[in-house]
Amino acid sequence: MEGQKVAVRITVNGTVRTAMVEPRTLLVHFLRDGLGLTGTHVGCDTSQCGACTVLLNGEAVKSCTVLAVQADGAEVTTVEGLGSLDALHPVQAGFWEKHGLQCGFCTPGVMMAAVALLKENPNPTEEEIREGLEGVLCRCTGYQNIVRAIQYAAKQLASEAEPSEQVAAAGGDA
Ligand code: FES
Ligand code: FES
Repeated sequence: MEGQKVAVRITVNGTVRTAMVEPRTLLVHFLRDGLGLTGTHVGCDTSQCGACTVLLNGEAVKSCTVLAVQADGAEVTTVEGLGSLDALHPVQAGFWEKHGLQCGFCTPGVMMAAVALLKENPNPTEEEIREGLEGVLCRCTGYQNIVRAIQYAAKQLASEAEPSEQVAAAGGDA
């Protein structure tokens, strides 16, 4: 017998998505199986690895610990929504420049955690970066290049912010 389904309306990477889901459907399965957004990975069944990390209303969450119905009305950003090949998000650019990955399985979750971390703390120390990544596990890299990637992203985000601040300041003279 098919379970009773519930309507959800979730904005994913800027696009409103509506669907009927079973109440037990996890957000990660909604994203992967329902929407085909397979950049969000499933690396465990104990809510520990963080490979499934996405942004839910701007906060990093493990999408295997959230029901799709709990995300009803919310905004979700997955790794697919971060940037594009032509215009990498600074965090993606950092992982590229500093080789912040080996197998890459953890990478989408680590990058989403990093985006949330830098939003909260744009200029983190190495220790703060390591603390901020506590919820995401990497079995390959030893984290050193991940830290460098996030430091790179922090610098790039800071330099991107500067011109707009200057424009805002200049606007007062116009
Ligand atoms: S899949 Fe491992 S924490 Fe979600
Ligand atoms: S790069 Fe392989 S688990 Fe992180």
